[in-house]
Amino acid sequence: MTLRELKNTFLTELEKVYPIEEINQFFFMITEKEMGYSKAMTFLHLDESISMGESMMYHNCLNRLKKSEPIQYILGETEFCELSFEVDQHTLIPRPETEELVQWIDNSVTPPKSNLEVLDIGTGSGCIAITLASKWLSKNITAWDVSKGALTMAKRNAMNHGIAVTFEKVDILSNPKQEKQWDIIVSNPPYVRNSEKKHMFPNVLQFEPKSALFVTDEDPLLFYRHIAGFSHKHLNPAGWLFLEINEYLSDEVIKLLKKEGFKDCELRKDVFGKNRMIRCRKSE
Ligand SMILES: C[S@@+](CC[C@H](N)C(=O)[O-])C[C@H]1O[C@@H](n2cnc3c(N)ncnc32)[C@H](O)[C@@H]1O
Repeated sequence: MTLRELKNTFLTELEKVYPIEEINQFFFMITEKEMGYSKAMTFLHLDESISMGESMMYHNCLNRLKKSEPIQYILGETEFCELSFEVDQHTLIPRPETEELVQWIDNSVTPPKSNLEVLDIGTGSGCIAITLASKWLSKNITAWDVSKGALTMAKRNAMNHGIAVTFEKVDILSNPKQEKQWDIIVSNPPYVRNSEKKHMFPNVLQFEPKSALFVTDEDPLLFYRHIAGFSHKHLNPAGWLFLEINEYLSDEVIKLLKKEGFKDCELRKDVFGKNRMIRCRKSE
């Protein structure tokens, strides 16, 4: 079988599930990861025969794509802020709007940044903590998650990039006791209400970790309440809190932050025009 035949098989078998451009993109991504060919190289090798093992690998990917599994889990990796991150079923796939949050954090502080003490609550793949540590050449970043599987992957990602982040298994809902004070606390906690599931794509619902995404409709701000309470005690006087939020709950989160004693609350939209992130300072 040639790569061209395989590409045609992808197009015919997946056309009911994905748009053609996306199917082509999947094919190129798989070929780059597994065969080492860039898109241009793939075109040059389209009439090359592939081995039985390679054909089986492509068919395995094809079957997983048919079941709507995200390409990032199939390849086992994704990009975030131009760094590569391994992902699996224990980690949320990092989103472009979270890249914007990281950019905002980076733009909010002036050099030297490597001395800043930073805490990332609910680190998942480690994307926020590792990107900041990489940008700032910092060894002062701590990252927490309650999920053992996520922490294993986050540690692997830090190791892959040769970066030192302190990873700890901490449940933010258990009122963790800490002596330490931080300059920046950031969190992208679970914030999708169960009632919003009906608007979500099957690939997110079936494959991404539910504990990373969902909160109850009765108490959608659960994580924000705990994070704000903890942060108010553990931020340095001029410290910043950065949060990714549910686009429909910005007013409620800001109200909660003010009630917890935060000031200078600033709301930002993401690239899709949705209310997506908040920055605020601890009152002195
Ligand atoms: C929306 S994901 C964010 C992951 C990553 N920071 C990102 O932006 O891609 C939320 C993360 O919070 C973690 N989490 C859920 N409940 C938690 C808790 N009680 N304490 C600490 N982390 C928690 C989940 O395991 C998940 O990794």
